[in-house]
Amino acid sequence: MKVLIVGGGGREHALAWAVAKSPKLTKLYAAPGNAGIAACAECLDIGAEDLDGICAAVKDLGIEFVIVGPEAPLVAGLADRIDAMGIPVFGPSAAAAEIEGSKGMMKDLLAKYGIPTADYERFDEPDAAKEYIRIKNHPVVVKADGLAAGKGVILSHTINEAYAAVDQIMIEEAFGDAGAEIVIEEFLTGEEASFFALCDGTRAIPLAGAQDHKQVHDGDHGPNTGGMGAYTPAPVLDEAMEKRIMDEIVTPTVEGMAKEGKPYKGVLFAGLMIGEDGPKVIEFNCRFGDPECQPIMSRLKSDALEMLLAAAKGELDKIKLKWDPRAALTVVMAANGYPGKYAKGTEIRGLDDADAMDDVTVFHAGTKTDGNGRMLANGGRVLGVTALGNTVEDAQKRAYDAVDAIDWPEGFCRRDIGWRAVGR
Ligand code: AMP
Ligand code: GLY
Repeated sequence: MKVLIVGGGGREHALAWAVAKSPKLTKLYAAPGNAGIAACAECLDIGAEDLDGICAAVKDLGIEFVIVGPEAPLVAGLADRIDAMGIPVFGPSAAAAEIEGSKGMMKDLLAKYGIPTADYERFDEPDAAKEYIRIKNHPVVVKADGLAAGKGVILSHTINEAYAAVDQIMIEEAFGDAGAEIVIEEFLTGEEASFFALCDGTRAIPLAGAQDHKQVHDGDHGPNTGGMGAYTPAPVLDEAMEKRIMDEIVTPTVEGMAKEGKPYKGVLFAGLMIGEDGPKVIEFNCRFGDPECQPIMSRLKSDALEMLLAAAKGELDKIKLKWDPRAALTVVMAANGYPGKYAKGTEIRGLDDADAMDDVTVFHAGTKTDGNGRMLANGGRVLGVTALGNTVEDAQKRAYDAVDAIDWPEGFCRRDIGWRAVGR
């Protein structure tokens, strides 16, 4: 089978690496891919958001299955276009991707089907929003409705902070059109975790739980990033909690989406708050997490191509997943300055030494090679150094040993990835 992976980050490297192991694969392409993905796929010079370019390549190259990594092309309708060509595609339709693309739509769906989440209200003008904040008179979270590249969420501890957040989103248009509408919701407390389920339109099966580290510095300090590291499984999501998440959140969501005429296919990524009264949805994403995908794929023992294809074709009843019982942990190495300004083009050495270590895989997120075969940084988040271990603590030690084998003075990482699980 000829397969195309859309995207060029660490998540897509992990998907490509996993799919490349399938005996069913004859040829793997990536659009646009990166220098790490190039080791297992032919990289096409087509951007992940160039829908016309991707559809033309699918036709010209005789691609038989498309796997979409990032949310933007899904929200823009890439899966609908591939589907219309009669080719299976992993990832939801534009209508179903709204679960991530519109926070208001997502919250209305949860309310309609009784799925636990923070209390909320939607607004399309600032005065009514401020009146709601004044009456509520407790900490709230103000969210731009649309896609804002992981930003667009402002946690407000006081009324004045919440007013300022409304102004920032609706009047100063800090997130552009994404903030034309907003959601204001109750501030949840508890432990955050991510849960991933595969969906085929009518059914869902659990994949894995994981925990991410969004802030840039150790101890969860500093500005938010796309994610500085992750591990799986997450001890807070034990078997009993996983069952509750499937019964109370994932299954009703998939059934609700089908009833709404927007059957959900692909991976459902639930960002959860695990509080005293159980799991509540913070957000849904219509794609794998990055970096959560890297440790999850490292633990998958089943054929990844078969698994993703079964979800795309509505055949999840035909597969049973096998997992490595060990834990996996990914440390993200980023360019100095990230998530603010950073330099591109600095040289990274020692990658082969790190990759050669037992149970270590270095996934590339933002890399390219120069004409002399040197590996260069080409983004903010650059590498996802991933290791398996008998415990999260063991995986953490192995991952940092591999980090220490990499010679990249212009890069940095957090030193405490996995602290919640290790400290438990
Ligand atoms: P989101 O982009 O929706 O994932 O929000 C970013 C981060 O804001 C989440 O990972 C949470 O840490 C935090 N957050 C969002 N909504 C809430 C909420 N209702 N209560 C507490 N924290 C929240
Ligand atoms: N790591 C969080 C995300 O992919 O949204």
